[in-house]
Amino acid sequence: MDRSRDALKGVAKELAKDISSGMTLGLGSGSTVATLLEELSPLAMARSKVIKGVPTSTQIEIVAARCGVELVPFKGSVDLVIDGADQVDAGLNLVKGGGGALLKEKIVMGSAKSVAIVAGESKFAEKLCEAGVRVPVEVFPMARESAKLKLSMLGGVPEERLLPKGYPYFTESGNVILDTLFEPIGDPRDLEMRVKSAPGVAEVGIFTIKPITVYRLRDDGSFDSMSESD
Ligand code: A5P
Repeated sequence: MDRSRDALKGVAKELAKDISSGMTLGLGSGSTVATLLEELSPLAMARSKVIKGVPTSTQIEIVAARCGVELVPFKGSVDLVIDGADQVDAGLNLVKGGGGALLKEKIVMGSAKSVAIVAGESKFAEKLCEAGVRVPVEVFPMARESAKLKLSMLGGVPEERLLPKGYPYFTESGNVILDTLFEPIGDPRDLEMRVKSAPGVAEVGIFTIKPITVYRLRDDGSFDSMSESD
């Protein structure tokens, strides 16, 4: 039986201790953060009454509103980001953007005083892009072909994200996503910068932001955490 929900409850209890009244949370997107918020918000509200949150997508905005989080505009920084990930490497670098929210997620995470990532144990790997995980690259639509060429020159195999019926997928910012497979990534920060320098690339789903704490949800209902400062 998968007991990762129990593990998530444990993480919620841990994170609730770090949330004090008046703090602004950056809310990442995806199913993990949605479930975590359901567990975390009653605990945090019991301690500090009001949780303020900056959502990174309409998906998490709806969940947060349902959980009683006070939604606030982004004013340039947040106290704590809570977010999920598609893959975590040994240096606690991340692949994110499976839900298409990478642009706002990186803006908000880049402004955070601290970052907490929560991910199931199947998402951990020695290097990013192991096991066929692709890096989402958000691109201004006019640049989709030039960006594909640039990504190929960097050793990637880009594939434009499509909706199930074959229509192009557009992000909330009106951009397309090129899900790009690379060989397992030896230097994530270097590749992140190289991809970002391609004209028309709005954001790349390699996240190397530090300091960071990653909570690993175990299938047996337990969790552990790891931190990296540089
Ligand atoms: C959203 O675009 C992503 O960055 C998510 O944080 C990531 O895909 C993890 O999502 P799940 O928690 O749904 O696996």
